[in-house]
Amino acid sequence: MVAYLGLGSNLGDRESNLHRAREILHASPGTRVSGESGLYVTAPVGGPEQPDYLNQVVEVHTTLSPRALLLAAQRIEHELARVRAERWGPRTIDVDILWYHGFSSADADLAVPHPRMEERRFVLEPLAELAPDLVLPSGRTVTEALTHVQDQAVTRFQACTGAATSKEHGGAAMDERNLRVEIRRLAEQKGAVILAHNYERPEIQDVADVVGDSLELSRKAAASEARLIVFCGVHFMAETAAILAPDRPVVLPVVGAGCSMADMVDVEGLQSLKAQHPDAVVVSYVNTTAAVKALTDICCTSANAVQVVRSVPPDREIIFTPDRNLGSWAAKKAGREVILWPGFCPTHQLIQVEDVQRAKAAHLGAKVVVHPECPPEVSEIADAVESTSGMIRYCKESYAKEYVIGTELGMLYRLSKECPGKRFYAITKLSVCPFMKLITLENLFAALENEGPVVTVDPDTRAKALRAVERMVEVGA
Ligand code: 13P
Ligand code: SF4
Repeated sequence: MVAYLGLGSNLGDRESNLHRAREILHASPGTRVSGESGLYVTAPVGGPEQPDYLNQVVEVHTTLSPRALLLAAQRIEHELARVRAERWGPRTIDVDILWYHGFSSADADLAVPHPRMEERRFVLEPLAELAPDLVLPSGRTVTEALTHVQDQAVTRFQACTGAATSKEHGGAAMDERNLRVEIRRLAEQKGAVILAHNYERPEIQDVADVVGDSLELSRKAAASEARLIVFCGVHFMAETAAILAPDRPVVLPVVGAGCSMADMVDVEGLQSLKAQHPDAVVVSYVNTTAAVKALTDICCTSANAVQVVRSVPPDREIIFTPDRNLGSWAAKKAGREVILWPGFCPTHQLIQVEDVQRAKAAHLGAKVVVHPECPPEVSEIADAVESTSGMIRYCKESYAKEYVIGTELGMLYRLSKECPGKRFYAITKLSVCPFMKLITLENLFAALENEGPVVTVDPDTRAKALRAVERMVEVGA
């Protein structure tokens, strides 16, 4: 059967996201992408301020039923770390079935033909490239419908000329194997070290020089003699590397790779809390902006939070930002009281006690290992609460053969590689960090080629943040 699907992306590397969605669709059982329109830029309709969308329509020939095709579309959204929490929030990918030959349904979850497609120029314009004579529910063809639709700002997308797109390297699309080879060749040629966090996509972990947790990667950035540091992680991690290695460019392949938790603490709020507790020592998780680090006495990661809290003289109050879960866990372990900032990580916050119970029941005898960013009631019932590097150590040393893991899903790949013969299961498959999934082989290659985008920290902020970051690197070393 022939079907038309609409793809849209407005978070991260939008072109790569559409490219990846087409690839996954093409690899779905019984499905072949037989045509694709050009790309169109359009402002989001109906939601709060957010970046423009890049839209496209693809034609598929498929043996899947409409419902099975819907499941395939949802799988693509899941693989590309689409977050469904916010109705109008930015998203890495949106996949809609617009039209399916001979099928019509008004079901809430499977409304086909898409009920609003004739109101949307950003659907009709690309669809007209593929099927101008297709008859729509109104009885109009796509071309006719275009003359009736309201004028919306939709423009044909011109790929930016300066930025290398790896897909076009040498005039031909590069497959994944070639990309990996080219990335390693370029890294060598440019004297670059590629650092990747444990939550990154498997293919990114595979091409990196070093894969690790925040603390290991910060230490590596400080000690490395590479001319160029390419950080496959999120923005605060690249900033921390820039604070520790100011003499070398630190490249983050997707500058939009942020961290929801880091965004939960701001300079003004922290200044005001400090004013209420003028003698308090400020301990900040490394998941903070450089500006917040500049107001901090000592930073920590989840690997050394307990030691850092313990290192504060007993007669001093402690303000802990931004993670209330890590803060309360570290305080309990260190036997201290702390003033908690109310931040959290949405990816870990959604791991619930019921999920742990369900996973334990499904894998009898498995050890439960969770990250301290999980809610306290989850940490309470776990066999071990560990940073990502601590998880590897624990699972290597333990005799158990099976583990249920409560952290971002990328960790399961790392654990399986490090502990062959052992089995790892996610407590919930929903724990995906959308930001950690934004870096792809394509944008990593482009970043190496361009030696950018570079993350910088202004010298004044850096000078103020340096001591707190250095102390973090020293504690537990
Ligand atoms: P680790 O310090 O354990 O690597 O964790 C970083 C992070 O962002 C967890 O969400
Ligand atoms: Fe931030 Fe959570 Fe993603 Fe870690 S997993 S980078 S804390 S949003």
